[in-house]
Amino acid sequence: MTAADRDGSTDVAVRFDGVTRRFGRDGEAVVALDGVDLSIPRGQIFGVIGHSGAGKSTLIRLVNALELPTEGSVHVDGVDLAHLTTAQLRTARKRTGMIFQQFQLLETVTVLDNVAMPLRLDGISRAAAQARATEALEFVGLGARLSAYPGQLSGGQKQRVGIARAIIRQPAVLLCDEATSALDPSTTLQIIDLLRRVNEQYGTTILVVTHEMDVIKDLCQAVAVMEGGRVVEQGSVMDVFVHPRTPIARAFVGTVIPQELPERVLRAVGGHPLWRLRFLDEEVTTPIVGALIRDFGLEVNILHADMTDIQNRTVGHMIIQVEGPATQRDAAYAHLAERIVSIEEVRA
Ligand SMILES: Nc1ncnc2c1ncn2[C@@H]1O[C@H](COP(=O)(O)OP(=O)(O)O)[C@@H](O)[C@H]1O
Ligand SMILES: [Mg+2]
Repeated sequence: MTAADRDGSTDVAVRFDGVTRRFGRDGEAVVALDGVDLSIPRGQIFGVIGHSGAGKSTLIRLVNALELPTEGSVHVDGVDLAHLTTAQLRTARKRTGMIFQQFQLLETVTVLDNVAMPLRLDGISRAAAQARATEALEFVGLGARLSAYPGQLSGGQKQRVGIARAIIRQPAVLLCDEATSALDPSTTLQIIDLLRRVNEQYGTTILVVTHEMDVIKDLCQAVAVMEGGRVVEQGSVMDVFVHPRTPIARAFVGTVIPQELPERVLRAVGGHPLWRLRFLDEEVTTPIVGALIRDFGLEVNILHADMTDIQNRTVGHMIIQVEGPATQRDAAYAHLAERIVSIEEVRA
């Protein structure tokens, strides 16, 4: 029985408990992580978003014990990485695979040998390692480029090689540190599709750290927002997109769905109240503007409207200005609050 079975958390792949990581000596210590608690469910694609310096790489490096916590603990598959012998650590590290922004391939060996490398290091014969590497490269769509060298490949192809190498030991957890940040948008989408396929086909838990909210939207089921070494907000991707609670989460959501009107527009429309409306799925087709005009006698000015697909659901977002008697406005506000996922007044 593993520790995970005992504490009833077999469905948790990675758990951070009160993790603090400091670098440097007392006087000038940098606190890279500050009391992080996080549970990553098995089989999930979990995203961590934050600006540069937020502590994302340090967080991910704790999962394969490239870093150890200064305080607190990190469990992978129920195993605390802090108290292992060298041999146990080597075994534990095989439970994770990692891909990087800069791919980190060996330039002087072929694609096939790059992918076979982890198995060769495990002492597996060249022929057996190459056979499995061939399969992995076919899975990532590079079955025709086995004998190419990394320098002959595009960025997207290099990252496919990186993914093949990372999954060659069939890890329980795949770690992605800014894995698409060096790629153009269409290549990013292809890599996202491939990562989703890894998750579906092998049940691999995937931990994605990124500063790109688009990647969170397109790939992840849940997200934690990091700032200054702390997790300041977390929830399902849908929840954070529809109800961002902290200024930083709002700002990240705003990179995908604009949250604020330009200052110039705000100045120009001053006076009557502005409402932000959010719609989910079939709500987006509700003819609400007509109702406000017809049933509540209000004048409505649509300042912004958009729709975004998130996790196979549709999220609509609209900012309107309403003009009319306060009693009518209040009645209309209450009417909408019952029919759509959220409504709030925006500072004019
Ligand atoms: N090995 C290290 N030595 C000293 N400071 C470090 C080290 N690694 C990270 N840091 C510091 O910790 C903070 C978080 O870094 P990092 O985890 O790389 O953030 P991110 O990946 O979100 O950009 C930064 O201030 C960084 O300078
Ligand atoms: Mg980083």
